[in-house]
Amino acid sequence: MPDIGVGIIGTGFMGRAHAMAYRAVPGIFAPPLRPALEMIADSDAAGAERAFHAFGFRRMTTDWRALVADPSVSIVCITTPTALHREMALAAIAAGKHVHCEKPLALDAGAAEEMARAAEAAGIRTQVGFNYLKNPLLGRAREMIASGELGEITNFRGIHAEGYMADPEAPWTWRLDPAGAGAIADIGSHIIGLARFLLGPIAELVADLETVVKERPEAVGSARRRAVEVDDIARLTLRFARGCGGTIEANWAATGRTMQLGFEVTGSRGAFSFTQERMNELLFFRAAGAAGTRGFTRIEAGPEHPPYGLFCPAAGHQLGFNALKTIEAADFLRAIAGGPEAGPDFREGAEIQKVIDTALRSARERRWLGIP
Ligand SMILES: NC(=O)c1ccc[n+]([C@@H]2O[C@H](COP(=O)([O-])OP(=O)(O)OC[C@H]3O[C@@H](n4cnc5c(N)ncnc54)[C@H](O)[C@@H]3O)[C@@H](O)[C@H]2O)c1
Repeated sequence: MPDIGVGIIGTGFMGRAHAMAYRAVPGIFAPPLRPALEMIADSDAAGAERAFHAFGFRRMTTDWRALVADPSVSIVCITTPTALHREMALAAIAAGKHVHCEKPLALDAGAAEEMARAAEAAGIRTQVGFNYLKNPLLGRAREMIASGELGEITNFRGIHAEGYMADPEAPWTWRLDPAGAGAIADIGSHIIGLARFLLGPIAELVADLETVVKERPEAVGSARRRAVEVDDIARLTLRFARGCGGTIEANWAATGRTMQLGFEVTGSRGAFSFTQERMNELLFFRAAGAAGTRGFTRIEAGPEHPPYGLFCPAAGHQLGFNALKTIEAADFLRAIAGGPEAGPDFREGAEIQKVIDTALRSARERRWLGIP
């Protein structure tokens, strides 16, 4: 199994998730390429140093450009604030590196399209961190929808709600960058990606975006306040290219919610209900049998849902968030080694970004719009 050097830019929530994932992959998946944690970069020297020691990287730097240029790094993971993704990814692509970039891919669809085109022209492999799509139960749901087990799909009801911005005293962060979008980009991108994963392209939409907290402290405890220009809540009504309609809510001010990424898909012969809060369960309703005997069945994640069995031989013992990131890294390594593209790649990241941009424009213009 040949080694491949991994360089990670950023050591926050996602930088650590990528480091854990690439470190875990060889023991779980026996991948065609064995990832070596080659280099860690963070502009915050203390953060870089912490991750360097904690994960056993071979080298560290405070200059991400040194990581991108390093000949021993073949995969560049970009886990920095979204405003930095474009510049870092384009530099990595120009250096011929494979790029594993966090979501949302960029601040807007123009930048995301530029990144997708650069990657396609360079012939390198890309991966975007929509890790929730790696849940084996959702792969099974997609297969069952495609094979017609739910009959004709009639509706999608999706939500991604969390409460991390519900407190009006939660301070300003890079997530409020007015050059991008708010909840619809940060968590809405996940549920938009999931809607596309299950049901295919979204053709048109109308959106209502709302800023609930109009200004926030500039920093923790600061008396100075800064106006918020991005959305806290986005409500979308959709029409999919396949014909059915749906709705999506993205909401980062949902008091009490920590991970309500969920959906219900309804078809003429069945339905699915799922929430990431109980990510090892998929509820399936089959419209068959006598009235009074029907109901949603709880499908429990287990070894029959690959690659669950590689993590654990027993059903019901459950996968977690970091397992999804590990599956994402393993899929990416297989694609780099010439295997099937598991995605979502930069092209899909750019398509998701188009939905976000269209929603922003629809809310501004207060009308239905087609996705370009
Ligand atoms: N896939 C998921 O489920 C998921 C979850 C959370 C965040 N994200 C995405 O991951 C990205 C990062 O989010 P996070 O929550 O990890 O953020 P974070 O604030 O926890 O970490 C960002 C890191 O980037 C570093 N950084 C900033 N500027 C830098 C520079 N110029 N050079 C090098 N390092 C720099 C910071 O010091 C910090 O360590 C965002 O795009 C976010 O949307 C994805």
